[in-house]
Amino acid sequence: MPVSDSTFADRVIAWQRQHGRQSLPWQHQRDAYPVWLSEVMLQQTQVATVVPYYQRFMQAFPDVFALAAADDEQVMQLWSGLGYYSRARNLHRCAREVVERFGGRFPESVEALQTLPGIGRSTAAAIAAFAFGQRAAILDGNVKRVFCRHFGVEGFPGERKVELGLWELVERELPEHGIEAYTQGLMDLGAGLCTRSRPACIVCPVSSSCVALREGRVDALPTRRARRAPPLRHGTLLLVRDGARVLMQRRPPTGIWGGLWSLPEIGADDTRPLPDDALHAALAPRIDELSRGGGIGVERLRAATDRAAWLPSFTHYTLHAQPILIELAPDAPTVREAAPAAACAPPPAAWRWLAGADLAQAALPAPIRTLLSNHLS
Ligand code: ADE
Repeated sequence: MPVSDSTFADRVIAWQRQHGRQSLPWQHQRDAYPVWLSEVMLQQTQVATVVPYYQRFMQAFPDVFALAAADDEQVMQLWSGLGYYSRARNLHRCAREVVERFGGRFPESVEALQTLPGIGRSTAAAIAAFAFGQRAAILDGNVKRVFCRHFGVEGFPGERKVELGLWELVERELPEHGIEAYTQGLMDLGAGLCTRSRPACIVCPVSSSCVALREGRVDALPTRRARRAPPLRHGTLLLVRDGARVLMQRRPPTGIWGGLWSLPEIGADDTRPLPDDALHAALAPRIDELSRGGGIGVERLRAATDRAAWLPSFTHYTLHAQPILIELAPDAPTVREAAPAAACAPPPAAWRWLAGADLAQAALPAPIRTLLSNHLS
């Protein structure tokens, strides 16, 4: 039969039988206990990691009665290192419920399995398919990736609407026969070929009908979670110039640009730009402080506002900082050197007039260096 005439499921099944994993220790049994144990361990954990844990568990607790009777401590000890410890607590609770509610026999329907602790819809389907041969659809992270790519599903699969669409799709594609090979095939395909990065499309059994491959969108699907735009903060930077010299202030040792020399700032935490009157109100005490730190006579300042926007991006927010140019009058009689930090009142601020080579060599944040080179040239 030509490839294009066979269904998606036919090709997954044929591929699994020839190339898929056949000898995992929990495979090919019709006992729900080892199937359930392995499926819980395989949630968020790779096969190679799970195998030794699975074997130790089966040795310590060969059936659901043994596990139900075990003490918490021993269960947690055997799980230790596998991570996501709520799985171990749920596993133990589930074993007790299977004994108490179902007489030690796992129920066979997906619906009943889902009422047990730690068994979600996909895990319930995997248990039903592997242990009871039921025609049930799984949808774990790997399967989401395979389906998003093959069927060209748009949208972040963690979003409820997209996920519901995927559930409809996986139900629709279920084969009439061969559910075990199909289910295992989807898992093997997702883990081995249709990997997140650098998938092996060249050997994929369903590549001829893969929408993502046909449209060159394998890297774009599944759609990644939409990143929220970082919050915007507004601040004002004071560029105080005395000829070629610029008044710099050392940033506090922690936080953004910690310990670097920067321009004095007003209100970098604000969520809105300062209106002009508020800006002037904020500027007055700042200039007073500058005059103490930078040794400038306030009367010699000639403020020139330059409200050009400037937008460096930080990891957690975008800073919209407006530089305000404050030029000392060229005929100002004297400008004292900045007082040493220790002599400043208040003392934590460290101020320095910098120019030329000193400015070029100073430890400045890159956006401040760019801003200065734009304004000083
Ligand atoms: N991931 C989840 N269940 C699995 C299984 N039965 N085999 C391989 N990988 C899996």
